[in-house]
Amino acid sequence: MAKAIVIEQTGGPEVMKWVDVELAEPGPGEVLLRQTAVGLNFVDIYFRSGLYTLPHLPHGLGAEAAGVVEAVGADVRDIAVGDRVAYVHNQQGSYAEMRVLPAHRCVKLPDDIPDATAAGIMLRGLTAQFLLRRTYRVQQGDTILVHAAAGGVGLILCSWAKHLGATVIGTVGSEEKAQVARENGCDHVIDYTLQDFVAEVREITGGKGLPVVYDSVGKETFDGSLDCLRPLGMMVTFGNASGPVPAIEPKLLAQKGSLFLTRPTLFHYIADRQELLAAAAELFEAVRGGAVTVAINQEYALIDVAQAHRDLEARKTTGSTVLLP
Ligand SMILES: NC(=O)c1ccc[n+]([C@@H]2O[C@H](COP(=O)([O-])OP(=O)(O)OC[C@H]3O[C@@H](n4cnc5c(N)ncnc54)[C@H](OP(=O)(O)O)[C@@H]3O)[C@@H](O)[C@H]2O)c1
Repeated sequence: MAKAIVIEQTGGPEVMKWVDVELAEPGPGEVLLRQTAVGLNFVDIYFRSGLYTLPHLPHGLGAEAAGVVEAVGADVRDIAVGDRVAYVHNQQGSYAEMRVLPAHRCVKLPDDIPDATAAGIMLRGLTAQFLLRRTYRVQQGDTILVHAAAGGVGLILCSWAKHLGATVIGTVGSEEKAQVARENGCDHVIDYTLQDFVAEVREITGGKGLPVVYDSVGKETFDGSLDCLRPLGMMVTFGNASGPVPAIEPKLLAQKGSLFLTRPTLFHYIADRQELLAAAAELFEAVRGGAVTVAINQEYALIDVAQAHRDLEARKTTGSTVLLP
């Protein structure tokens, strides 16, 4: 038996219950993990609220965690009992003291990456890695726009992009967040609750527009983001913090300058184990070398996850949030 958060129905934060769950022995290719730190992500809110669909109910929540391997099943070769590992998994269920999961999703942690750091950056940091290095390859001299720049993914994106030589424009929802964004790689900060971010971007770029926009806010920023791009620019819509983006006519992309539009998700970029290990190695190296800021700005006991969800939804958090089992 172990304690875990389970939901029996979708809804507000109150649907999350701290309950005893049975633990199966790890089967072939699986490991049993004693979890020491769990990452809180906005995607957990989409599953809890019903915006994204869980395969069945009741169900666990949570996409990432770090911990120590307690047992391994048959056919597990490169992970052993006692290893410190972290994972991001597309089957929700990381809000738990213990968890059985596929070994091929686990990454061994180097000694200089603490558990809480790993739990704070696996999903967010690997997302920043594919966005900056693969979806659009940010180059020295690019000027880019990152929405929700003081958030979990946002801070990692901004600090890493700055290190790659980009000029970073970030949007934020308050003056306190503007300060956080400035300290973490943003050259220009726009409060999009007070200012017209399209007009600000036009002014900053001298009317030229941007090669890429990273937009995780969704519904409220999508149209404006298209207007920030230069001809042939790339619109990367990768989240729905303000709600999902409505359908668009493809010809709109032609009218706005033959734009490229992508709606990527991390799991397609790390589906293969070698891709996962290479991306994680690059992320850990970026943390080690100071290119990526790891800002675990909130910690909650896992049992208090409802409050953590309320704060994330209410835009009260900055950087990453970690839950402690
Ligand atoms: N596609 C992928 O593979 C992938 C992977 C990871 C994350 N994501 C997406 O990336 C985004 C960031 O995730 P995160 O966990 O790091 O969260 P986060 O950025 O720390 O939190 C979301 C932020 O969005 C901003 N926001 C704007 N409008 C909002 C609204 N109506 N309600 C709530 N927040 C609003 C808020 O910042 P301000 O107050 O500054 O506006 C808020 O702090 C999410 O949309 C998530 O789904 C996508």
